[in-house]
Amino acid sequence: MGETASVAGLEGVVAAETRLSEVNGRSGEFTIAGFPVEELAPRATFEETVYLLWHARLPDAEELAGFREALAVRRGLPEGIVRLLRSAAVAGVPAMDALRAAVGALGVEETDGAEDARSIVARFPTIVAAYRRLLDGEEPVDPDPGLGHAANYLYMLWGERPQEGAVRALETYMNTVVDHGMNASTFAARVIVSTGSDMVSAVAGAVGALKGPLHGGAPGPALEVVFEVGSAGRAEEVLRSKLERGERLMGFGHRIYKVRDPRADVLAGAAEVLYGSGGDRGIYELALEVERTALRLLEEYKPGRNLKTNVEFYTALLLHGLGLPAGLFTPTFATARVAGWTAHCMEQRKLGRLIRPQSVYVGERGKKWVPLEKR
Ligand code: ACO
Repeated sequence: MGETASVAGLEGVVAAETRLSEVNGRSGEFTIAGFPVEELAPRATFEETVYLLWHARLPDAEELAGFREALAVRRGLPEGIVRLLRSAAVAGVPAMDALRAAVGALGVEETDGAEDARSIVARFPTIVAAYRRLLDGEEPVDPDPGLGHAANYLYMLWGERPQEGAVRALETYMNTVVDHGMNASTFAARVIVSTGSDMVSAVAGAVGALKGPLHGGAPGPALEVVFEVGSAGRAEEVLRSKLERGERLMGFGHRIYKVRDPRADVLAGAAEVLYGSGGDRGIYELALEVERTALRLLEEYKPGRNLKTNVEFYTALLLHGLGLPAGLFTPTFATARVAGWTAHCMEQRKLGRLIRPQSVYVGERGKKWVPLEKR
C-alpha cells in the first residue's frame, strides 16, 4: 500500500449510503426517511416511526395494528433476563451497563434479522423500566397489552397508566432521536453486522458506544446547570463565571449543526406543551432564561463560533418534565435509538459488505529480537 493519510475521528468520511436519515448541519435540516423531523416527530406514534424506518413508508391502519400487536406479544422479558437484572441491581451496576448485559443475553433468532429487530425493540423499554424499579427496591411491572410502546414505558416505570400529554411528549422525543445519520453507536452497530454477526451483538455494541459522555451522556449535565443557576436573577452571574473559567456550557454547540439544531426546536415545542399542562413550570421558565442568557454570552465569549442550543438541552428539560430522573436520560435515549440501530443493521446486511478500513502504520520497523535476560 502507498502512503494514505488518516482522518482523525473519520470526520467528513462518508461510510455508507443510507435512506434512513439525513443531517444537514449547514441548513439546520434533519430528515427521517423523507420526513422533516418537525413534520414527523410531533405527529407519529413511535410504532409508526419504527415501521417507517424498517419499511421505508408509513403503515396503513391494518399494518399498524398488526405491528403494535407484534411488539406487544414480544414486550415481556424472559425469566432469565429478569434474574440477570435482579443480580445487577443488587451489585449496583449502572443502568447502561445492565442494559448492555441484558440485551446481550437476549437469544438470537436470526431468521432474517426482522424477528430479532422486533424482539429487541419491543423489550428495550421493559428492560430499562424493570431495572430502574429493581434499583429503587421495587418489583418490575409487567407490560400492559392495551398500551402502545411509549405509554408502556411510562406505565412499567411508575405502575400507573400515563396521561395522554405525557405519552405524546415521550413519543415526540423518541421520534426525534430515533436516528441521526452515521452517529458513533449506529456506526458501531453497522460494523458488527457487517462481519456477518447477529443483531443482538450489534445492539449490545451500540449500547456500549452510546453510553460514552461524548455521545449519549450529555443531557444530565445540561439540566444540572439550570438547577445550579437556581433563579432567573443568577443566570448571568453563574454562566459568565463558567465562561470566564473556560468551561463549556452544557447543551450548547454541536459538531455538525452550526445553526440551531432542528431537534432542539421540536423538543422545545413539546416541552412548551408539556409544561403548559402542568408540572414544574418554574424550572421550565428558568430553563428558558438560562438558554437566552447562554446564547447571548456565548456570542460575547465565542463570537462567530455559532454556538446554538443543541438537542441535549431540551431533552433534559422534556424528560425532567415527564418525571424521569437524570439517571434514566441516556437509557431512555437508547430505547428510541435502538430502532435506528436495527434499521441500519438491516440496511447494512443488504449491502453485504464487510466494513474494514485501514490504518497507517506510524511505528518503528526492522527491530531485532532481544532475549528476555538482556532487556
Ligand atoms: N460552551 C462554551 N464554549 C464552547 C462550547 C460550549 N458549549 N462548545 C464549543 N465551545 C467553544 C470551544 O471551546 C471552541 O472555542 P475556541 O475556538 O476558542 O477554542 C469553539 O467553541 C469551537 O468548539 P469546538 O471544540 O470546535 O466544537 P466541537 O465541534 O468540537 O464540539 C461539542 C462540539 C463537543 C458538542 C461542544 O460544543 C461541547 O462541548 N458542547 C457542550 C457539551 C454538549 O452539550 N454536548 C452534547 C452535544 S449534542 C450531541 O452530541 C448529541
